[in-house]
Amino acid sequence: MVMEGVKCSAGTDLLEARPAGTYFIHDVTNAIRQKKPNLLLMDTPNISSFMSMDAESFERLSSYVTREYGIKLPLAKKSMLESRLNKKVKTLGLSSYKEFLDFIFSDEGKKGELFHVIDLITTNKTDFFREAAHFHFLTQEYLPSYQQEFNRNNFKVWSAGCSTGEEPYTLVMSLEEYKKRHPEVSYSLLASDVSLRVIQTAYQGIYDIERIEPVPLELKRNYFLRSKKNPNVVRVKPQFRNKLQFKRINFMDQHFGLMKADYDFIFCRNVLIYFDKPTQERVIVKFCSHLKPGGLLFLGHSESIMGMNVPLKQVRPTVYRYAG
Ligand SMILES: C[S@@+](CC[C@H](N)C(=O)[O-])C[C@H]1O[C@@H](n2cnc3c(N)ncnc32)[C@H](O)[C@@H]1O
Repeated sequence: MVMEGVKCSAGTDLLEARPAGTYFIHDVTNAIRQKKPNLLLMDTPNISSFMSMDAESFERLSSYVTREYGIKLPLAKKSMLESRLNKKVKTLGLSSYKEFLDFIFSDEGKKGELFHVIDLITTNKTDFFREAAHFHFLTQEYLPSYQQEFNRNNFKVWSAGCSTGEEPYTLVMSLEEYKKRHPEVSYSLLASDVSLRVIQTAYQGIYDIERIEPVPLELKRNYFLRSKKNPNVVRVKPQFRNKLQFKRINFMDQHFGLMKADYDFIFCRNVLIYFDKPTQERVIVKFCSHLKPGGLLFLGHSESIMGMNVPLKQVRPTVYRYAG
Protein backbone atom coordinates (compact mmCIF):
# COMPACT_ATOMS: atom_id res chain seq x y z
CA MET A 1 0.00 0.00 0.00
CA VAL A 2 1.25 3.49 -0.79
CA MET A 3 1.45 5.79 2.20
CA GLU A 4 1.41 9.56 2.24
CA GLY A 5 4.91 10.90 2.63
CA VAL A 6 6.67 7.76 1.45
CA LYS A 7 9.82 8.59 -0.49
CA CYS A 8 9.63 7.23 -4.03
CA SER A 9 11.08 7.88 -7.45
CA ALA A 10 9.78 10.83 -9.51
CA GLY A 11 8.67 10.66 -13.14
CA THR A 12 4.92 11.06 -12.92
CA ASP A 13 2.63 14.02 -12.53
CA LEU A 14 1.09 12.34 -9.51
CA LEU A 15 4.20 13.18 -7.58
CA GLU A 16 5.23 16.56 -6.29
CA ALA A 17 8.87 17.24 -5.50
CA ARG A 18 9.23 18.64 -1.96
CA PRO A 19 12.14 20.88 -1.02
CA ALA A 20 13.39 18.26 1.40
CA GLY A 21 13.55 15.71 -1.41
CA THR A 22 10.52 13.70 -0.31
CA TYR A 23 7.44 13.11 -2.44
CA PHE A 24 3.77 13.10 -1.60
CA ILE A 25 1.24 11.22 -3.67
CA HIS A 26 -1.79 13.49 -3.79
CA ASP A 27 -4.18 11.06 -5.39
CA VAL A 28 -3.39 8.39 -2.88
CA THR A 29 -3.78 10.91 -0.08
CA ASN A 30 -7.19 11.80 -1.48
CA ALA A 31 -8.05 8.16 -1.87
CA ILE A 32 -7.18 7.54 1.75
CA ARG A 33 -9.49 10.39 2.77
CA GLN A 34 -12.24 9.23 0.42
CA LYS A 35 -11.68 5.51 1.15
CA LYS A 36 -11.29 4.45 -2.51
CA PRO A 37 -10.11 0.85 -2.19
CA ASN A 38 -9.11 0.38 -5.83
CA LEU A 39 -6.57 3.13 -5.69
CA LEU A 40 -5.24 2.12 -2.31
CA LEU A 41 -4.42 -1.31 -3.65
CA MET A 42 -2.12 0.10 -6.34
CA ASP A 43 1.57 0.18 -5.59
CA THR A 44 4.07 2.81 -6.69
CA PRO A 45 5.35 1.17 -9.92
CA ASN A 46 1.78 0.89 -11.18
CA ILE A 47 1.07 4.55 -10.57
CA SER A 48 4.14 5.83 -12.33
CA SER A 49 4.10 3.41 -15.28
CA PHE A 50 2.89 4.67 -18.66
CA MET A 51 -0.20 2.99 -20.07
CA SER A 52 -0.45 2.69 -23.84
CA MET A 53 -3.77 2.81 -25.69
CA ASP A 54 -4.41 -0.13 -28.02
CA ALA A 55 -5.54 0.62 -31.58
CA GLU A 56 -9.09 -0.65 -31.06
CA SER A 57 -9.63 1.53 -27.98
CA PHE A 58 -8.23 4.54 -29.80
CA GLU A 59 -10.65 3.99 -32.69
CA ARG A 60 -13.57 3.52 -30.31
CA LEU A 61 -12.80 6.69 -28.35
CA SER A 62 -11.92 8.89 -31.32
CA SER A 63 -15.07 7.98 -33.25
CA TYR A 64 -17.17 8.71 -30.15
CA VAL A 65 -15.52 12.12 -29.64
CA THR A 66 -15.91 13.07 -33.33
CA ARG A 67 -19.54 11.96 -33.45
CA GLU A 68 -20.61 13.60 -30.18
CA TYR A 69 -18.40 16.70 -30.08
CA GLY A 70 -17.21 17.24 -33.65
CA ILE A 71 -13.55 17.09 -32.59
CA LYS A 72 -11.27 15.27 -35.04
CA LEU A 73 -8.84 12.86 -33.42
CA PRO A 74 -6.43 11.50 -36.03
CA LEU A 75 -3.90 8.83 -35.00
CA ALA A 76 -1.29 11.57 -34.53
CA LYS A 77 -3.25 12.65 -31.42
CA LYS A 78 -2.92 9.25 -29.71
CA SER A 79 -0.01 10.19 -27.46
CA MET A 80 -1.71 13.47 -26.51
CA LEU A 81 -4.81 11.46 -25.53
CA GLU A 82 -2.73 8.98 -23.54
CA SER A 83 -0.98 11.73 -21.63
CA ARG A 84 -4.31 13.36 -20.75
CA LEU A 85 -6.17 10.16 -19.86
CA ASN A 86 -3.51 8.02 -18.16
CA LYS A 87 -4.03 9.54 -14.75
CA LYS A 88 -7.82 9.23 -15.00
CA VAL A 89 -7.62 5.52 -15.96
CA LYS A 90 -5.33 4.79 -13.04
CA THR A 91 -7.32 6.89 -10.58
CA LEU A 92 -10.32 4.74 -11.42
CA GLY A 93 -8.21 1.71 -10.54
CA LEU A 94 -8.37 0.29 -14.08
CA SER A 95 -5.50 -1.44 -15.78
CA SER A 96 -6.18 -0.95 -19.50
CA TYR A 97 -7.90 1.45 -21.89
CA LYS A 98 -10.29 -1.31 -22.89
CA GLU A 99 -11.47 -1.56 -19.27
CA PHE A 100 -11.66 2.24 -19.10
CA LEU A 101 -13.84 2.52 -22.21
CA ASP A 102 -16.05 -0.39 -21.12
CA PHE A 103 -16.56 1.50 -17.85
CA ILE A 104 -17.22 4.98 -19.24
CA PHE A 105 -19.68 3.64 -21.83
CA SER A 106 -21.47 1.48 -19.23
CA ASP A 107 -24.72 2.70 -17.65
CA GLU A 108 -22.80 3.72 -14.53
CA GLY A 109 -20.07 5.49 -16.53
CA LYS A 110 -22.62 7.34 -18.66
CA LYS A 111 -24.10 8.82 -15.50
CA GLY A 112 -20.75 10.17 -14.28
CA GLU A 113 -17.33 9.72 -15.83
CA LEU A 114 -18.26 9.89 -19.52
CA PHE A 115 -19.50 13.43 -19.04
CA HIS A 116 -16.09 14.48 -17.70
CA VAL A 117 -13.98 12.78 -20.37
CA ILE A 118 -14.63 15.76 -22.64
CA ASP A 119 -13.01 17.97 -19.99
CA LEU A 120 -9.77 16.07 -20.57
CA ILE A 121 -9.98 15.86 -24.33
CA THR A 122 -10.72 19.47 -25.27
CA THR A 123 -7.89 21.93 -25.87
CA ASN A 124 -8.63 25.04 -23.83
CA LYS A 125 -5.72 27.32 -24.70
CA THR A 126 -6.82 30.94 -24.51
CA ASP A 127 -5.63 34.41 -23.43
CA PHE A 128 -6.88 37.82 -22.48
CA PHE A 129 -6.89 40.07 -25.57
CA ARG A 130 -6.04 37.11 -27.79
CA GLU A 131 -6.10 38.29 -31.43
CA ALA A 132 -6.62 41.78 -30.08
CA ALA A 133 -7.43 43.37 -33.47
CA HIS A 134 -10.95 41.89 -33.18
CA PHE A 135 -11.79 43.85 -30.03
CA HIS A 136 -10.31 47.00 -31.49
CA PHE A 137 -12.26 46.62 -34.74
CA LEU A 138 -15.53 45.98 -32.88
CA THR A 139 -15.37 48.93 -30.50
CA GLN A 140 -13.38 51.49 -32.50
CA GLU A 141 -14.77 50.89 -35.97
CA TYR A 142 -17.85 48.74 -36.25
CA LEU A 143 -20.03 49.59 -33.25
CA PRO A 144 -20.44 53.34 -33.92
CA SER A 145 -21.65 52.74 -37.49
CA TYR A 146 -23.72 49.68 -36.47
CA GLN A 147 -25.54 51.79 -33.85
CA GLN A 148 -26.39 54.38 -36.49
CA GLU A 149 -27.26 51.99 -39.31
CA PHE A 150 -29.70 49.88 -37.28
CA ASN A 151 -30.61 52.32 -34.54
CA ARG A 152 -29.54 49.71 -31.97
CA ASN A 153 -28.12 50.58 -28.57
CA ASN A 154 -28.64 47.30 -26.79
CA PHE A 155 -26.24 44.56 -27.88
CA LYS A 156 -26.25 40.84 -27.28
CA VAL A 157 -22.84 39.21 -27.53
CA TRP A 158 -22.00 35.51 -27.37
CA SER A 159 -18.57 34.07 -26.62
CA ALA A 160 -19.12 30.58 -28.06
CA GLY A 161 -16.37 28.23 -26.88
CA CYS A 162 -15.35 30.61 -24.09
CA SER A 163 -12.87 28.24 -22.41
CA THR A 164 -11.69 29.55 -19.01
CA GLY A 165 -13.20 33.01 -19.50
CA GLU A 166 -10.38 35.17 -20.83
CA GLU A 167 -12.28 35.90 -24.07
CA PRO A 168 -15.65 36.90 -22.52
CA TYR A 169 -13.94 39.00 -19.83
CA THR A 170 -11.94 40.75 -22.56
CA LEU A 171 -15.29 41.50 -24.19
CA VAL A 172 -16.63 42.86 -20.90
CA MET A 173 -13.63 45.19 -20.57
CA SER A 174 -13.88 46.33 -24.22
CA LEU A 175 -17.63 46.97 -24.03
CA GLU A 176 -17.40 48.72 -20.67
CA GLU A 177 -14.75 51.04 -22.09
CA TYR A 178 -16.98 51.64 -25.11
CA LYS A 179 -19.87 52.45 -22.80
CA LYS A 180 -17.82 55.18 -21.13
CA ARG A 181 -17.75 56.97 -24.47
CA HIS A 182 -21.32 55.93 -25.44
CA PRO A 183 -23.42 55.97 -22.27
CA GLU A 184 -26.61 55.24 -24.23
CA VAL A 185 -25.38 51.68 -24.80
CA SER A 186 -26.19 48.54 -22.82
CA TYR A 187 -25.21 44.95 -23.51
CA SER A 188 -25.57 41.39 -22.33
CA LEU A 189 -22.98 38.68 -22.73
CA LEU A 190 -23.41 34.91 -22.96
CA ALA A 191 -20.37 32.68 -22.42
CA SER A 192 -20.70 29.01 -23.40
CA ASP A 193 -18.52 25.96 -23.65
CA VAL A 194 -18.99 22.21 -23.91
CA SER A 195 -16.65 21.58 -20.96
CA LEU A 196 -18.12 22.18 -17.52
CA ARG A 197 -14.66 22.34 -15.99
CA VAL A 198 -13.69 25.44 -17.98
CA ILE A 199 -17.10 27.06 -17.45
CA GLN A 200 -16.55 26.67 -13.72
CA THR A 201 -13.17 28.43 -13.96
CA ALA A 202 -14.68 31.19 -16.09
CA TYR A 203 -17.51 31.64 -13.61
CA GLN A 204 -15.06 32.09 -10.75
CA GLY A 205 -12.98 34.62 -12.69
CA ILE A 206 -9.83 33.87 -10.67
CA TYR A 207 -6.49 33.93 -12.50
CA ASP A 208 -2.78 33.74 -11.78
CA ILE A 209 -1.35 37.22 -12.12
CA GLU A 210 0.80 36.34 -15.14
CA ARG A 211 -2.38 35.45 -17.08
CA ILE A 212 -3.40 39.13 -17.12
CA GLU A 213 -0.08 40.31 -18.56
CA PRO A 214 -1.70 41.13 -21.96
CA VAL A 215 -4.26 43.40 -20.24
CA PRO A 216 -3.34 47.13 -20.41
CA LEU A 217 -2.33 48.53 -17.00
CA GLU A 218 -5.30 50.83 -16.62
CA LEU A 219 -7.74 48.02 -17.34
CA LYS A 220 -5.96 45.76 -14.85
CA ARG A 221 -6.58 48.40 -12.19
CA ASN A 222 -10.21 48.93 -13.16
CA TYR A 223 -11.36 45.36 -13.67
CA PHE A 224 -9.32 43.13 -11.31
CA LEU A 225 -8.80 42.78 -7.58
CA ARG A 226 -5.63 41.28 -6.13
CA SER A 227 -6.10 38.49 -3.62
CA LYS A 228 -5.28 39.53 -0.04
CA LYS A 229 -4.04 36.04 0.76
CA ASN A 230 -1.97 35.45 -2.38
CA PRO A 231 -0.49 38.45 -4.26
CA ASN A 232 0.02 36.25 -7.33
CA VAL A 233 -3.69 35.76 -7.82
CA VAL A 234 -6.29 38.20 -9.15
CA ARG A 235 -10.05 38.07 -9.53
CA VAL A 236 -12.37 39.91 -11.89
CA LYS A 237 -14.37 42.43 -9.85
CA PRO A 238 -17.84 41.13 -8.99
CA GLN A 239 -19.73 43.84 -10.88
CA PHE A 240 -17.97 42.69 -14.08
CA ARG A 241 -18.24 38.95 -13.35
CA ASN A 242 -21.98 39.55 -13.05
CA LYS A 243 -22.07 40.75 -16.65
CA LEU A 244 -21.63 37.17 -17.89
CA GLN A 245 -24.26 34.48 -18.19
CA PHE A 246 -22.96 30.94 -18.58
CA LYS A 247 -24.42 28.00 -20.44
CA ARG A 248 -23.10 24.60 -21.48
CA ILE A 249 -23.58 24.34 -25.24
CA ASN A 250 -22.30 21.58 -27.51
CA PHE A 251 -22.11 22.87 -31.10
CA MET A 252 -23.01 19.40 -32.33
CA ASP A 253 -26.47 19.64 -30.75
CA GLN A 254 -29.35 20.23 -33.13
CA HIS A 255 -30.55 23.23 -31.14
CA PHE A 256 -28.55 25.47 -28.82
CA GLY A 257 -31.56 26.44 -26.70
CA LEU A 258 -31.18 30.09 -27.72
CA MET A 259 -33.53 32.51 -29.49
CA LYS A 260 -33.07 32.82 -33.25
CA ALA A 261 -31.83 36.10 -34.79
CA ASP A 262 -31.07 37.39 -31.30
CA TYR A 263 -27.30 38.08 -31.28
CA ASP A 264 -25.41 41.08 -32.59
CA PHE A 265 -21.95 39.57 -32.28
CA ILE A 266 -20.78 35.98 -31.97
CA PHE A 267 -17.17 35.19 -31.14
CA CYS A 268 -16.37 31.59 -32.00
CA ARG A 269 -12.60 31.64 -32.22
CA ASN A 270 -10.18 28.73 -32.26
CA VAL A 271 -12.89 26.12 -31.82
CA LEU A 272 -13.92 25.13 -35.35
CA ILE A 273 -10.30 24.40 -36.20
CA TYR A 274 -10.77 21.07 -34.37
CA PHE A 275 -13.73 20.09 -36.62
CA ASP A 276 -13.73 18.85 -40.22
CA LYS A 277 -14.92 21.21 -42.99
CA PRO A 278 -18.52 19.89 -43.38
CA THR A 279 -19.02 20.07 -39.59
CA GLN A 280 -17.59 23.61 -39.52
CA GLU A 281 -20.05 24.65 -42.23
CA ARG A 282 -23.05 23.13 -40.41
CA VAL A 283 -22.09 24.92 -37.18
CA ILE A 284 -21.56 28.26 -38.96
CA VAL A 285 -25.01 27.95 -40.59
CA LYS A 286 -26.45 27.50 -37.08
CA PHE A 287 -24.56 30.56 -35.83
CA CYS A 288 -26.02 32.57 -38.73
CA SER A 289 -29.54 31.62 -37.61
CA HIS A 290 -28.76 33.29 -34.25
CA LEU A 291 -27.34 36.50 -35.73
CA LYS A 292 -29.31 39.66 -36.43
CA PRO A 293 -28.91 41.16 -39.91
CA GLY A 294 -25.69 43.20 -39.91
CA GLY A 295 -24.38 41.18 -36.95
CA LEU A 296 -20.85 39.82 -36.98
CA LEU A 297 -19.25 36.41 -36.60
CA PHE A 298 -15.63 36.44 -35.41
CA LEU A 299 -13.53 33.34 -36.12
CA GLY A 300 -9.97 32.47 -35.03
CA HIS A 301 -6.99 33.65 -37.07
CA SER A 302 -6.49 30.29 -38.80
CA GLU A 303 -10.18 29.66 -39.48
CA SER A 304 -12.18 30.77 -42.52
CA ILE A 305 -15.47 30.29 -44.38
CA MET A 306 -13.69 29.82 -47.71
CA GLY A 307 -15.59 27.38 -49.96
CA MET A 308 -18.65 27.36 -47.69
CA ASN A 309 -22.17 28.16 -48.76
CA VAL A 310 -23.06 30.53 -45.90
CA PRO A 311 -24.80 33.95 -45.87
CA LEU A 312 -21.74 35.85 -44.61
CA LYS A 313 -19.58 38.55 -46.13
CA GLN A 314 -16.02 39.12 -45.01
CA VAL A 315 -15.44 42.62 -43.56
CA ARG A 316 -11.98 42.07 -42.03
CA PRO A 317 -9.68 39.06 -41.86
CA THR A 318 -11.72 36.38 -40.00
CA VAL A 319 -14.61 38.80 -39.34
CA TYR A 320 -17.87 38.13 -41.21
CA ARG A 321 -21.08 40.11 -41.49
CA TYR A 322 -24.42 38.33 -41.64
CA ALA A 323 -26.30 39.30 -44.77
CA GLY A 324 -29.67 38.44 -43.20
C1 LIG B 1 -8.87 26.63 -27.85
S1 LIG B 1 -10.29 27.02 -26.90
C2 LIG B 1 -10.71 28.61 -27.55
C3 LIG B 1 -11.04 29.59 -26.48
C4 LIG B 1 -11.33 31.03 -26.97
N1 LIG B 1 -12.45 31.07 -27.87
C5 LIG B 1 -10.11 31.63 -27.61
O1 LIG B 1 -10.06 31.80 -28.84
O2 LIG B 1 -9.15 31.93 -26.90
C6 LIG B 1 -11.51 25.95 -27.65
C7 LIG B 1 -12.74 25.74 -26.77
O3 LIG B 1 -13.77 25.12 -27.56
C8 LIG B 1 -14.50 24.22 -26.76
N2 LIG B 1 -15.17 23.21 -27.60
C9 LIG B 1 -14.62 22.14 -28.22
N3 LIG B 1 -15.55 21.40 -28.81
C10 LIG B 1 -16.74 22.02 -28.60
C11 LIG B 1 -18.10 21.74 -28.97
N4 LIG B 1 -18.42 20.65 -29.68
N5 LIG B 1 -19.06 22.59 -28.57
C12 LIG B 1 -18.74 23.71 -27.85
N6 LIG B 1 -17.49 24.03 -27.46
C13 LIG B 1 -16.50 23.19 -27.83
C14 LIG B 1 -13.42 23.62 -25.86
O4 LIG B 1 -13.97 23.06 -24.68
C15 LIG B 1 -12.49 24.80 -25.61
O5 LIG B 1 -12.75 25.43 -24.39
